[in-house]
Amino acid sequence: MLATMGALGLAPTAHAADTAAYRAPSPGDFALTGRAAASVVIVGGGVAGLTAAYELGKAGYDCTVLEARDRTGGRNFTVRGGDTTTDTLGQRQTARFSPGQYLNAGPARIAQWMLTMDYCRELGVPVEVFTNSNADAYIFNESAGMTAPVRHRTAKADVYGYVAELLAKATDQGALDAELTAEDRERLLSFLRSYGSIGGRTEGWRYTGGGRRGYAENPGAAGTPGTVLGDVPGVSEVFASGVGRYFSFEFGYDQAMLMFQPVGGMDRIPEALTRAVGARRIRTGAEVTDITGRADGVTVTYRSGGRTRSLTADYCIAALPPNILARTAHNLGSAVQSALEACVPSSAGKIGLEYRSRWWENDHRIYGGITETDMDLAHIWYPSHGFHERRGVIVGYYNTGAAADAYAALAPREREARAVAQGVKIHGEAYRAELASSFSHHWRQTPHLEAAWHSLRGGPDAPVFAPLNEGVGRVYFAGDHLSYAIAWQHGAFASARKVVTRLHARVMS
Ligand code: PHE
Repeated sequence: MLATMGALGLAPTAHAADTAAYRAPSPGDFALTGRAAASVVIVGGGVAGLTAAYELGKAGYDCTVLEARDRTGGRNFTVRGGDTTTDTLGQRQTARFSPGQYLNAGPARIAQWMLTMDYCRELGVPVEVFTNSNADAYIFNESAGMTAPVRHRTAKADVYGYVAELLAKATDQGALDAELTAEDRERLLSFLRSYGSIGGRTEGWRYTGGGRRGYAENPGAAGTPGTVLGDVPGVSEVFASGVGRYFSFEFGYDQAMLMFQPVGGMDRIPEALTRAVGARRIRTGAEVTDITGRADGVTVTYRSGGRTRSLTADYCIAALPPNILARTAHNLGSAVQSALEACVPSSAGKIGLEYRSRWWENDHRIYGGITETDMDLAHIWYPSHGFHERRGVIVGYYNTGAAADAYAALAPREREARAVAQGVKIHGEAYRAELASSFSHHWRQTPHLEAAWHSLRGGPDAPVFAPLNEGVGRVYFAGDHLSYAIAWQHGAFASARKVVTRLHARVMS
């Protein structure tokens, strides 16, 4: 009967985990089955671990979450005034942000299609728009010889304008006649005219700039039509500047506007999950030292408050980072160990710069969004909330790989100095003069995490990762690394749901 119900989508099946339709376990699933919810020890209180506990808890599973750090959320970490961190090198920082100011040191943006939005809705976490691209933010490619920043809108008008001009000329000269009918050609030309804001056939399809680039003097009342930004660079100058490389970002499935953030900080999500799971089910400061699976259960040993303790449950979900689990004693076999070691940890870092005034809004007319650079600070994020308030926190760098490692190697004060020196080149002296305080965070140096995310060669379904996807005995594995949305909370939610569905189906079978 269960199998039939499963086929009808009325009972959980292993297959259901792999399809879009997720159904949370529910107490009613056990009615008339003679089965009961099991006990589950969940290692890791990040988004995947908390979600597993939350979803299993809906059906009455007896879950215990063991979290090594003193707080839940994992890489979902919002820094506010008074928060203190000590990195693996022993560098200690205390944030001095003013009340209401914060830095989302980890995840900071959510696409509309992501499960993260469903959890915000279900858990009552209010969201607001996160500005992921802004026509008025800047581009500054120092190594390409730019001496002043250019606005996104200006750079885009020039790139799209010249691409349109070149393609229109080629099309009109018959270079594409093998691909296009006469009708196609006219339609393409009419598209290119609007796409690039270029002249028509009689103007030789030329791009000559225009209002899209922006205004030196804004349009105003009658008599003040405004002054269009002049000095349109030539085609070769535009491509030499390299500004075009930033425009594909906004088309990405995971990065396209509109994007969202929780009101008040990204950690509203793990806070809500933690509340829903229940504090009594979560042990923080519990560092797991051994996972031993047996035919009838799993024993997890952990250190807490200087003492060694252990916990035995029917099942275990290992929802800690693979690099950390790889160094934890276990009896799960060499295939598991090889899979864990095949997950490659990545670097990423951010600095939050709190300013005494919102000069980027007042003086630069930038309300949220991202300035792109080829300097090693990589990206500068302006806050997407608190517009027109007195103070605000800018993300002064968000970088990955070697650039993140370069900043990570510096002491926090030096990171600030380097980020500010680079930011001054784009924004002028206010970038230094208005600074109130800063706080930087580097994930490779964060105890119990030691990675921003992991990359899996060949993707999560490459054969080497099968033991992690299938689980071993009574131990399952969860985390964004076991998803197609690595470095997104969506991946952690999806992975947790998959494991919950599998575990529940097994208990029911
Ligand atoms: N999710 C992270 C971010 O948006 C990391 C990431 C960047 C993941 C780009 C995929 C693509 O910054």
